[in-house]
Amino acid sequence: MFLGLGFFLGAGAVATPIRSDPCAAIAGALFSIPADSLACLRSFPFNETLRQNVLSTVSRVFDFYTFEDYYPKSTVPFQNNDNIRAELARINSTLYETDYDFNLDLYNFVNQLNDGHTLWYPNCYVAWEALLPTPVVSMSVGGLESVYIAPDAVDFVSLVPRGFSSFYGSIGFDWQRLAGAQVLQIEGMDPYDYVDLVADTVTGNYLDHGVRVNSVFTGYRLVGSSFSQRFGDLAGRVFNPIANLTFQLIPIGATQPENVTVPFMHVFTGTNFSDQDSYWTNNCAADDSTNGVDKKLISDTLQPYAKVRAKGIARPPSDAIGLPSQFQPSLSPVNGNAGGIVSYILPDGITGVLFVGSFEDNDIEGFQTNAITTITSLKAEGATQLLIDVTNNPGGFVCEGLFLHRYLSANFGYPGFQSTIRGNLLAQKIVTQSVALSIGDNVSFYAPEQWAFLNDTLFPIDFNYIDPPVPVTVNDHKDATSQRFHDVCPFSVPIPSSPPFDPTKIAIVTNGNCASTCALFCTLMKERHNTTIAVFGGRPGQSIEFKGMAGNQVLEWSDLDTAIKTAGLKNDPLAPPDLLVSANMRHNWRTAYSYIDEDTPIAYYSEPPTFRFPYTADTYNNPQNLWIFA
Ligand SMILES: *[C@@H]1O[C@H](CO)[C@@H](O)[C@H](O)[C@H]1NC(C)=O
Ligand SMILES: *[C@@H]1O[C@H](CO)[C@@H](O)[C@H](O)[C@H]1NC(C)=O
Ligand SMILES: *[C@@H]1O[C@H](CO)[C@@H](O)[C@H](O)[C@H]1NC(C)=O
Ligand SMILES: *[C@@H]1O[C@H](CO)[C@@H](O)[C@H](O)[C@H]1NC(C)=O
Ligand SMILES: *[C@@H]1O[C@H](CO)[C@@H](O)[C@H](O)[C@H]1NC(C)=O
Ligand SMILES: *[C@@H]1O[C@H](CO)[C@@H](O)[C@H](O)[C@H]1NC(C)=O
Ligand SMILES: *[C@@H]1O[C@H](CO)[C@@H](O)[C@H](O)[C@H]1NC(C)=O
Ligand SMILES: *[C@@H]1O[C@H](CO)[C@@H](O)[C@H](O)[C@H]1NC(C)=O
Repeated sequence: MFLGLGFFLGAGAVATPIRSDPCAAIAGALFSIPADSLACLRSFPFNETLRQNVLSTVSRVFDFYTFEDYYPKSTVPFQNNDNIRAELARINSTLYETDYDFNLDLYNFVNQLNDGHTLWYPNCYVAWEALLPTPVVSMSVGGLESVYIAPDAVDFVSLVPRGFSSFYGSIGFDWQRLAGAQVLQIEGMDPYDYVDLVADTVTGNYLDHGVRVNSVFTGYRLVGSSFSQRFGDLAGRVFNPIANLTFQLIPIGATQPENVTVPFMHVFTGTNFSDQDSYWTNNCAADDSTNGVDKKLISDTLQPYAKVRAKGIARPPSDAIGLPSQFQPSLSPVNGNAGGIVSYILPDGITGVLFVGSFEDNDIEGFQTNAITTITSLKAEGATQLLIDVTNNPGGFVCEGLFLHRYLSANFGYPGFQSTIRGNLLAQKIVTQSVALSIGDNVSFYAPEQWAFLNDTLFPIDFNYIDPPVPVTVNDHKDATSQRFHDVCPFSVPIPSSPPFDPTKIAIVTNGNCASTCALFCTLMKERHNTTIAVFGGRPGQSIEFKGMAGNQVLEWSDLDTAIKTAGLKNDPLAPPDLLVSANMRHNWRTAYSYIDEDTPIAYYSEPPTFRFPYTADTYNNPQNLWIFA
């Protein structure tokens, strides 16, 4: 959810409540208490037809999941206990009361694989996000690290649209006085232990526990060209069944601890509805965009497709609203602010800062031009060293990350990683059909033309890169992949003959929530140029990696289904059926292999940062202060 202004349903357009219809009772409301929205969500009975449909699709998508063989895995720091097929069988034989309960179980199982590239996302039930007006942060105060309610909670939470604070006012709950309080316990536990629990049961997304811990806390980020602040996963979550959290805390100015129970509010981010039927139709039933299409059939009626680009990206920006303006940089940006990048010269006059909020600019050429203009301007203004901030960067187009690496290192060779896809029987058939039908890179990610040999010569359109499949043994499982290949990127701007900055004068700061293309970029900088990387935050005493979610490319369910349909294989017995519900089953489709250990995906290659610092009250929500400190 990204709470912009003015996306709300017409206030006052509340349908006359029908008592027997729990969805009608909350129709038109932006905020509701968890009990009320849950009553609507849990009003749809369990349906065996839907379970079989969903599980058939989900289990057949897992056939393509590159990291399946890593579950379960016992080696630190990436240990996990999940056996994917056993869990699917369990969910297939569990008795559920409601469709919500089935989906919650499936969502939690997939979420707890801790790979944000792989996710069951049923739009029906993720349409409400739970918010708490007391986001938390781990800060060092006087040299001691503890958990606090975010000191800026009043300024920050006040940016949530009206209706949120007024609800707390209406029940006489004074959350404002809790801002900055030191937290001694949450739900009766040591606050860091509770944060660990949230990191392991709510957060998902990142393989490394330490990185997940940082996701639980509030912090700053850059979305498009706007600074924003995340609630963090303690105070902002989807699929939330709980009504409140109890904190033991010492408010600012108090000397004695007290216990405070803070109620959650649910905020609606789905499509409007007036009752139970329209809730289902508008939010839960499959629509035209749920499943894929045979692109051979629609080429006559649609604009030609732009060449499809490899994308790796975390879940859509979630639970972030504006960063209060007093915490945004006061320095003037160098060369404006475009395409997810903003840059500054620090007061020392020699440090240029590049805040790369994402690699999501749809205009891949524009991203390259903008990056070059920005870096050139930083140098023109006197910068001789470069600090790159990738805090809370969700990733984006692989080629944008590879471009930034290539430009900063004046690398004329291949700037990415070796990659493979999984070589299951249906994947083999898709590539065989792609060759037989001369499927081009404008319609399918499986098209040979999308990729190149390791010498960077493009695969010919009739080159079958998965025949024969390459046998591999991973974590004692025998499996198969395609042959290894390189990414192909449309680099269209000139690269300088020497790096714009001395590579030893480039450093990266992050909170480890650097997903997907961001993880590729940082790993390239570290593995190939030994770039200094500092991670802020985490639980004191616990290890933390600098990267999370380091796949190579994600395929959304509709992308995979499109590849299957375009290859003419939808009737194959191995093909997943069309979903009957509005949902996404995305998966990590490609693996990137580490340069340091070429048998190991970078996702499973442990790389701790060069430096580790705690946040302070001055840095957790204030990027400029953090850069000056760094
Ligand atoms: C279960 O869902 C299917 C597909 O939406 C629907 O056709 C069927 O009527 C539902 N069954 C029951 C018992 O509601
Ligand atoms: C679920 O279990 C039933 C009974 O064993 C089986 O017929 C069905 O194919 C299973 N569904 C899936 C999606 O595996
Ligand atoms: C907190 O939520 C629980 C249910 O999860 C409920 O029983 C309890 O009454 C709530 N406490 C307060 C103070 O709202
Ligand atoms: C707060 O709750 C804890 C139990 O979680 C209890 O031990 C403690 O006495 C309570 N403190 C106050 C001030 O009520
Ligand atoms: C939802 O909103 C649209 C446009 O605002 C309106 O046309 C439609 O009737 C609404 N649907 C429901 C179910 O309220
Ligand atoms: C894809 O490209 C081929 C060859 O350039 C062309 O014939 C075909 O119409 C294109 N398909 C689409 C859907 O744009
Ligand atoms: C690159 O490698 C492929 C496969 O080995 C080979 O067919 C091709 O000729 C090579 N290209 C160049 C330019 O060497
Ligand atoms: C990498 O940089 C660190 C300091 O940041 C240095 O200690 C180490 O020797 C460097 N390693 C290589 C291989 O250059």
